[in-house]
Amino acid sequence: MAGCASQLPGFGDDADGSAVTPRPTVTGDADTTVSLTASDGAIRPATDQSTTTWLYEGQFPGPELRVQEGDVLSVELNNDLDAETTIHWHGVPVPNSVDGVPEVTQEPVASSDSFTYTFRAEPAGTYFYHSHVGLQLDRGLLGPLVVEERDPHVEYDYDYVVVFDDYLPGEPTLPSDEGAGGGGMGGGGMGGGMMGDVRPPYEGLLVNGQLPEDPPTFDVTEGDRVRFRFVNASSATVFGVRITGHELNVTHADGRPVDPVAVDSFAFGAGERYDAVVEATNPGSWFVQADALDGDEPPARAVLTYDQLDGVRNPETPSSSGTRLRYEDLRAVTPLDGVDGTPDRTFDLTLSRGRGQSYTWTIDGQAYPDADPLRIHPDEHVRIHMENQSPVVHPMHLHGHFFRVGDAIKDTVMVPGHMGEVTLDFRADNPGRWLFHCHNLYHLDAGMARVIEYVE
Ligand code: C2O
Ligand code: CU
Repeated sequence: MAGCASQLPGFGDDADGSAVTPRPTVTGDADTTVSLTASDGAIRPATDQSTTTWLYEGQFPGPELRVQEGDVLSVELNNDLDAETTIHWHGVPVPNSVDGVPEVTQEPVASSDSFTYTFRAEPAGTYFYHSHVGLQLDRGLLGPLVVEERDPHVEYDYDYVVVFDDYLPGEPTLPSDEGAGGGGMGGGGMGGGMMGDVRPPYEGLLVNGQLPEDPPTFDVTEGDRVRFRFVNASSATVFGVRITGHELNVTHADGRPVDPVAVDSFAFGAGERYDAVVEATNPGSWFVQADALDGDEPPARAVLTYDQLDGVRNPETPSSSGTRLRYEDLRAVTPLDGVDGTPDRTFDLTLSRGRGQSYTWTIDGQAYPDADPLRIHPDEHVRIHMENQSPVVHPMHLHGHFFRVGDAIKDTVMVPGHMGEVTLDFRADNPGRWLFHCHNLYHLDAGMARVIEYVE
């Protein structure tokens, strides 16, 4: 598989002929072999609602993949869709050839074709996988990936994976596809206009594929320490998350261990993950709730229930007070190697809405794919500084690497609107061509991406 990548147009055949060979992926026997078939199928987000969408293994979210840190995972993607597709392993620093980005790391997998992704699952963490073709992520092609640590830095009894998503029945489209002032996204009235943004016509917010009318339940026993693995798998939503009656001890940011921080809530953008350990010391029935900070849909809700409850109680509605996690609160347990001191290379990038008629989002005025790659050399300490000249948040995601932001180690970071600034640092230790992009899927599809390319 690694061999095929160098045949791709644009891959490894730079004008200056100086691309760096990516590290090969593992060969040999896998510890876990899975097959994921992408196909049409029906989902039922509430008892009285059903819609046909695109799914892995007929499930939404797709099947939970769970492996031990260091295990070799082999996933065969079978494409039963009527369209090309790929799978990207969001957050996992895989070898370049299995990163799943069409035209950058592989040719997209044609209808009726298949492709096998094999890689060593490390480091441990809470991740997810999703299609990286067009707007397919907002059609349901996503699922959680848990890599369990052999030696966790916090104690807990068991865990639940909690996947938040925005619910879009039907086919996602970019506003520009609708024509100026048309329906669809453009008609939503969610702060459109030149500089602002429009929000897709979401019909609700989901926890593990369920609307609040039909919430999933997490059962606990008094005295348990329960680890929640929260994933923001949405395409265009910043969620504010809380559990009524309980503190969240945030233990991992984007899968990486942090010194535990106790908060009442946290906010996260598309592509971010937080793990929190909750002590079940307050018997009752409680909401696990996620509000859209940039939308007006009713909050996504699950119910946390203690099993020794006598009789059914109505869960308590959260108040919006209390402490909220800030990035400054996050302190990685082990610092990221090789990013101390002065960087070898710095990129200063502006994030903004494209000028003109069409719906575009740009990095330094360029809309991908008509955008220059950002070139780096192996082993450099690279710094990216971003300034957001638009009024909306951009959750920026780097493929193939973790980065340091403040004292945290992450792979996705929100750059706040209205001249918000973020600086991230990483070590160039995974040669290849890697996408760096906004994880708002509509911004990505409208150009807010660059390829980071290793050259000698
Ligand atoms: Cu979740 Cu480019 O990725
Ligand atoms: Cu964005």
